[in-house]
Amino acid sequence: MIIVQDTTFYSGFLMLILAPELFNKLKDLGSAFHSGKVSKGALKKTEALLEEFDEEQLFGSNELDQTEPPTLLMDDVQFSYPEGFQLSHINFVAKPYEKIALIGATGSGKTTLLHILAGLVPHTNGSYLLGTIHLREIEASSWYDQMTLISQDGYLFAGTIAENISLGSKKKPTNEAVLNAATEAGIIEWIEQLPDGIHTLVGEGGRGLSGGERQRVFMARAFYKKPNVVFFDEPTTGLDLRTETMLQASLKKLSEQSTVIIVAHRLYTIREADRIYLLENGTIRASGTHETLWKEDDLYRIMITTQQGGTQA
Ligand SMILES: Nc1ncnc2c1ncn2[C@@H]1O[C@H](COP(=O)(O)OP(=O)(O)OP(=O)(O)O)[C@@H](O)[C@H]1O
Ligand SMILES: [Mg+2]
Repeated sequence: MIIVQDTTFYSGFLMLILAPELFNKLKDLGSAFHSGKVSKGALKKTEALLEEFDEEQLFGSNELDQTEPPTLLMDDVQFSYPEGFQLSHINFVAKPYEKIALIGATGSGKTTLLHILAGLVPHTNGSYLLGTIHLREIEASSWYDQMTLISQDGYLFAGTIAENISLGSKKKPTNEAVLNAATEAGIIEWIEQLPDGIHTLVGEGGRGLSGGERQRVFMARAFYKKPNVVFFDEPTTGLDLRTETMLQASLKKLSEQSTVIIVAHRLYTIREADRIYLLENGTIRASGTHETLWKEDDLYRIMITTQQGGTQA
């Protein structure tokens, strides 16, 4: 009462106007506190997950030679998802600069095997050597620095095309290097007709790109990084002939400077491979060149014949 009596109309009016400001700030403080608590909880969960991942010991501390691609050698490797699918008895080799195709029906385990080869998922039994060192004993960045994975459902980060192309490389990004990579990947004309060229924003909040366009950016990323080993999950459908031809040409160029391991669906890619691994229900049913498999494996013959509508390969 005393306060009210002593307050002039002017200061009372001012208090009434300012009160909501104060309460809004208090409310903001409340939600910031809540977000803080939630984030802290999320951080704890992430830490626990990372620790669990560490226990599986995907990597170690040995440096891997960077000068040329290591031979990738799997001996009787096994892997299973908790839900049930299993890869077993995987024997695999990719020598430096070879082009290897993984083929098989949908669900046969091609992408899973590609991810294990790339070191994204730890295998359970058997051994996986990069050169002479077990993957488990290699220092993670000395492997990741020399490989690129172009996945089926790759992710573009919110940012410019240039940032997305230079992502994952240790090189200092320059416009010139980005433009060179884009030229090598055959996408320079496409980039030039975008509103801001290589500075066009893509991803969240930016321009959405089609599957084919995204794959082209990923291809340019590979040319930018010049990795020793490229893992490529070839898109199953949805590319127009021009994009398709462009991707094939880029892939050919990439395979001259890197080992390429590719989950292949196109007959052209399959026939070009130095060696083909045919997967069936999580195991390798057969391996060899197109000519050998064509002669020796009836499933291979059926797959290839279906691919090209009944005529002989
Ligand atoms: N993260 C996962 N957790 C559990 N099961 C999975 C997971 N990813 C794939 N699978 C299962 O593993 C099996 C092999 O999947 P994978 O993706 O390796 O097949 P694919 O040969 O690449 O098939 P596609 O040709 O359709 O791409 C499938 O049965 C799939 O449902
Ligand atoms: Mg797949």
